[in-house]
Amino acid sequence: MKKDHREKTVGPWAAAKLDALEAYLKFYCTALSKQTFTRVYIDAFAGACVAKVRGSEGKKEASPFFDEIEDQEAQAQFIVGSPIRALNTPHGFQRHYFFDLDETRAENLRTITAQRNGVSVQVGDCNPLIRQLAPSLKKKNLRGVAFLDPYGAHLEWATIEALADTGTMEVVINFPLAMAINRLITRSGDVPENWRSQLTKCFGTNDWQKIAYSRETDLFGNEVTTKNGGVAERLLDLYLSRLKDLFPYVSTPRLIRNTRNAPLYYLIWAGPNKLGLKGAEYILSQGEQINPPR
Ligand SMILES: C[S@@+](CC[C@H](N)C(=O)[O-])C[C@H]1O[C@@H](n2cnc3c(N)ncnc32)[C@H](O)[C@@H]1O
Repeated sequence: MKKDHREKTVGPWAAAKLDALEAYLKFYCTALSKQTFTRVYIDAFAGACVAKVRGSEGKKEASPFFDEIEDQEAQAQFIVGSPIRALNTPHGFQRHYFFDLDETRAENLRTITAQRNGVSVQVGDCNPLIRQLAPSLKKKNLRGVAFLDPYGAHLEWATIEALADTGTMEVVINFPLAMAINRLITRSGDVPENWRSQLTKCFGTNDWQKIAYSRETDLFGNEVTTKNGGVAERLLDLYLSRLKDLFPYVSTPRLIRNTRNAPLYYLIWAGPNKLGLKGAEYILSQGEQINPPR
């Protein structure tokens, strides 16, 4: 098979995240369609546009008659990523900003959007790039949504702060607590300096350390570090309470689990508008069947 951008694979649970995003973008643009605001979409971690769902190829149950590898490949399910969903939103956005560290993915996005007006694709770390962009979004006649969807602890708090400071932007955050963040917080407390610094940038504070670890002196006078219980829940609370300091409205987080029911990440909406909260709460609380409110 020809190598292309679809080489990326995702777990089947990615559909829950992307379907919720798509439903929210539809709700948002429909709600604003009668107003004169310029609608802006930011995709900070834009990704590959189309990804193969892991484990979906060549499933015998799907068709017992396919045994050639190419036929198995043909049966694989592909999932459309966030940039395409945003670009196809009914009554959609007039301006799109896409960011990705990966040159190939960015190039692919440029090709796909070549015929569209108002699209900017930038290669690089989205954090400084969005902080640079944010002041220009502080306009009376502009409203927008930023989808912040990192694999790991790569979304910096200062980036969320810059978006909140616009007063015009809402954020939909993938907070990869179990999938990535909690894994950086080792049981032994021996956290490499670059992980510590990444976690502090992600939370915008080093309070995560107090939540994660206790330090005690043992009988021999040695300092012993132990990881506390309930760290994930308390880190989620820290993140949510800090979001509430930045935005007037913050949704209930929606937990996304893998196929073995293990927690992976939370989807959280935050923004300046009560109607946005109402739509986000409704959509994030839905399972498979997503019908946004009117
Ligand atoms: C979870 S994927 C995004 C998937 C996409 N939002 C979707 O659902 O279709 C994360 C993407 O972020 C990119 N990435 C990682 N760190 C980044 C950074 N600091 N700035 C911008 N992009 C980054 C990766 O190359 C990858 O394509």
